[in-house]
Amino acid sequence: MKSIVINGGKKLHGDVAISGAKNAALPIIAAGLLAEGEHRIANVPTLVDVTTLGRILRNMGVTFELKDHSVVLDSSKLNNPEAPYDLVRTMRASVLVLGPLVARFGKARVSLPGGCAIGARPVNLHTMGLEKLGAKVDIEHGYMVASAKRLRGAHIYFDTVTVTGTENLMMAATLAEGETILENAAREPEVVDLAQALIGMGAKIEGAGTDIIRIKGVQSLRPLDYTVLPDRIETGTFVIAAAITGGSITITRCNPSHLDALLAKVGEAGAEITIGEGTITVHGQKKIKPVNIKTLPYPGFPTDMQAQFMSLMALADGTSVINETIFENRFTHVAELRRMGADIVVEGRSAVVKGVPKLSAAPVMATDLRASASLILAGMAAEGQTVVSRIYHLDRGYDNIEQKLSALGADIKRV
Ligand code: UD1
Repeated sequence: MKSIVINGGKKLHGDVAISGAKNAALPIIAAGLLAEGEHRIANVPTLVDVTTLGRILRNMGVTFELKDHSVVLDSSKLNNPEAPYDLVRTMRASVLVLGPLVARFGKARVSLPGGCAIGARPVNLHTMGLEKLGAKVDIEHGYMVASAKRLRGAHIYFDTVTVTGTENLMMAATLAEGETILENAAREPEVVDLAQALIGMGAKIEGAGTDIIRIKGVQSLRPLDYTVLPDRIETGTFVIAAAITGGSITITRCNPSHLDALLAKVGEAGAEITIGEGTITVHGQKKIKPVNIKTLPYPGFPTDMQAQFMSLMALADGTSVINETIFENRFTHVAELRRMGADIVVEGRSAVVKGVPKLSAAPVMATDLRASASLILAGMAAEGQTVVSRIYHLDRGYDNIEQKLSALGADIKRV
């Protein structure tokens, strides 16, 4: 099994370019199910999650090719509207095929994703919304089996803000008869990117980026020709890489306005941050100040940056409190950080992080995608050699991370 070996203590310097956003690429690729013809999507990150979605689509009879950060797909010959358990269980975002399949083909059979390392992660809001749009949805043998003649527009209220739930129903509503209103919708930049991609296909959508999205259904859509936005979580991970190593890096091809909450907090922690046109320059300082955070739906502090921020706070000069409000079990990195000498106590949904002057290298195990990133960050700041195992999680969400970090001067390699 592969591991990542890091010899800590190197300050990062230089420029790094950000890849396309995983969480925008996945729903936009799924949107390729909504129309006949050849779809082209550019700036797609090379990630296991993207190839997993490709396998799911090919299994349906869709042609799918990922080359040079572009996806070309054609769903004209789809003959099997099904996403099997084997593939879905490795990636919950597979549920994104449900809405498009029911909307265009009138049926879908998609495995229930089950739990994952960070919590139960139910899909009740996805199925509730589809039922509101007129689909019949049954759970049979671990699968969501949905069918409908043509979906009908509806008023859908989400009692919890859900990113993929909003995306699934927005896609489904583009081909429904009449108007759909999504209330308490997710406002994440990836939802906006998907809406823009759909509008390019001929969909009628207003309000994406606010908590009320209105979609007027159309009879059919044309193929996609779209470029995915930059990954704000990859961007944020490099921001912390500079801050935690006391280095100085310029992050290019990113969208700084999507990171307001994180940049404010890393700034409060003492790093010097300069925003340019599509660039962020971060000068880390020797002294890291303690800062409290609370994860929230966008534009709040992203849960996908919580683990990485905790690594930074582990080295702060004082105590900080990290409150996780989105997922119930997203502290699995704590035990690993403790093995590296961090002083962290978890109490329910809060972690109290008492900063220590230094971390010491240790063998650690990645438990989920963003936890893996937090361990790599801690390893780069620690004294000695850290070995991070179970890095398949990392490959789900970071495009070439060790190459990018070593180009910045980190001593990191895959073995
Ligand atoms: C997406 C992101 C993930 C990020 C998360 C929160 C993608 C592919 N993944 O995941 O990286 O961590 O948003 O920003 O975009 N919930 C329900 N019922 C549902 C759906 C969700 O109760 O039907 C709950 C979840 O358990 C969780 C909360 O809603 O507590 C938010 O989850 P959600 O926004 O749906 O996360 P994902 O879309 O799966």
